[in-house]
Amino acid sequence: MSKSADIADLIRERVGSEPVRLGLVLGSGLGHLAGAVEGIAIPYSELPGFPHAGVSGHNPNLVIGTLEGVRVAVFGGRAHYYEKGDPSAMRTPLEVLRELGAEMMIATNAAGSLRPDMATGSIMCLSDHINFSGLNPLIGEPTDSRFVPMTEAYDSEMRAGLVAAAAEDKVPMAQGIYAWYSGPSFETPAEIRAIKMLGADAVGMSTVPEVILGRFLGLRCAAISTITNMAAGMSSEKISHEHTKAMAPLGAAKLEKVLRRYLRGLS
Ligand code: HPA
Repeated sequence: MSKSADIADLIRERVGSEPVRLGLVLGSGLGHLAGAVEGIAIPYSELPGFPHAGVSGHNPNLVIGTLEGVRVAVFGGRAHYYEKGDPSAMRTPLEVLRELGAEMMIATNAAGSLRPDMATGSIMCLSDHINFSGLNPLIGEPTDSRFVPMTEAYDSEMRAGLVAAAAEDKVPMAQGIYAWYSGPSFETPAEIRAIKMLGADAVGMSTVPEVILGRFLGLRCAAISTITNMAAGMSSEKISHEHTKAMAPLGAAKLEKVLRRYLRGLS
């Protein structure tokens, strides 16, 4: 049996065998959403292959339970490439998600905006991404399944569902393209101008490797950014991790509303 299957068994012993339908990966400053789930929290430290060190603003627990009538697995924190230089750092947690029965994954993140009309505190549903880092979590994967098509990385049905959920609750939600920058330093204004010319609407340090892994594992994927700042050089606002954490709750309330409505539609 694979390591991920063993970990999934371990989790089922704690939370019961009802299959999970959807995985939710929470970004910086969004970890509190894990608390909204009626379920059982397992610290990452008890799960082999799960990220242990983490980043401040993240909540290193896996919570399995029910949110708006849907069986979910909430990853309160994620591992980033910039922590150890490993783009596949989330592979085991996502394999475990698949083993638990999930068909869908929604990643959330904090991001900088490249669009003047997408202000701090707004949210953006990803329509596509640009892998500006050039890194890939599937490098080294020996099987032919590494050649993952990314034409519809962000599932059109899930996106339509999220857009409809936002409209129903009158939550303004942009749609746009997210560029993955490796971090942990923020971008220079010249890099932001370059990324903008390439067609990005937002920039951040996560999500893309998870969506590549998610597609590799056969998960239908969606992602939503909370805009915590205007990207480098676009405003006089100072960019920092502290600022990211402080601003994330502005969009988090909107994001939670949209997610809850979306889940209600699934249940
Ligand atoms: N750049 C990269 N990552 C981010 C940003 C940003 O401006 N804001 C929040 N996460």
